[in-house]
Amino acid sequence: MQKSKLSLGLTTIAVGLACAGCSGALDPQGAESQRIYDLSWLMYGLASAILVLVLALLAWALFRRRRGPGPFSRRPGLGLGFILGGGVVLPLVVLSVLLGFTIRTLAASRQPQPGSLTIQVVGHEWWWEVRYPDQGFTTANEIHIPVGEDVNFQVSTIDVIHSFWVPNLAGKIDMIPGQTNEIVLHARKAGTYRGQCAEYCGLEHANMAFYVVAQDRSAFESWVRSQQAPEAQNSAAGQRGLDVFTSQACVSCHRVRGTPASADVGPDLTHLASRSTIGAGTAPTKSQNLAAWIRDPSQIKSGVHMPAFPNLSDQEVQDLVAFLLEK
Ligand code: CUA
Repeated sequence: MQKSKLSLGLTTIAVGLACAGCSGALDPQGAESQRIYDLSWLMYGLASAILVLVLALLAWALFRRRRGPGPFSRRPGLGLGFILGGGVVLPLVVLSVLLGFTIRTLAASRQPQPGSLTIQVVGHEWWWEVRYPDQGFTTANEIHIPVGEDVNFQVSTIDVIHSFWVPNLAGKIDMIPGQTNEIVLHARKAGTYRGQCAEYCGLEHANMAFYVVAQDRSAFESWVRSQQAPEAQNSAAGQRGLDVFTSQACVSCHRVRGTPASADVGPDLTHLASRSTIGAGTAPTKSQNLAAWIRDPSQIKSGVHMPAFPNLSDQEVQDLVAFLLEK
């Protein structure tokens, strides 16, 4: 019995440490996430109090000295009172308190405002299409927002159910086929926040990440201007890379504004060099990663729908990389 108590104590400590460790990902930096964070601590607090109460009763039942009949057989009404109090009244009170706080948290969540920046995010297996409809451009897997402002997100999906989640900024919102859901993100502090698909959506669900870059207004606006510009091919290698791009299957899936490539199956690759990762958070945007990705993306992200291009020469791959990384 002592042994199981010891292991229970160790488990409690381990869970506590694990929760302390997740403070980075769950550290609230948005108005919404702050309310969810506060509600979570209230739930953990109540749950811990009930756990302590139940363990204390268990310990009392196990270790009390047995002399004659117990209190329940001495006072027959006590057992029924105990069952009603502990099994009906207490759960009713605790769950009502939690329901009240949950409704308050839900009611306080921000609603989309007309006039605020609107960004549309479309879930794909296994990446994020990011459209700025009023600014007239589309990007992927990296979302820039102005800090300290409400930003409306309209989320949908092209295939299966995904879930859009930036833990530091707000709760999750599901992306349901045939439906558009809305959520407001409001970053209180400038920074880069990791987002993650939060609904199991197939083989590469775990590698369906994105980043939200919250920056001050002027930095955000200059980013918008740089994204609006069409891709430029300045170097000879970039020009050769464009020729490879348009003569290969690349062109039947991807768009690069300012070139003949205008398909919408895979991510829009215009200004790919401005994004920190390729493969939706799978690898840093570096020329050697990009070259490896073009040769065989499944070596980096095994379930990816993009095919391998084993027949490209080293020179062609180099030229493609030069083209894709040109600003
Ligand atoms: Cu998309 Cu999980």
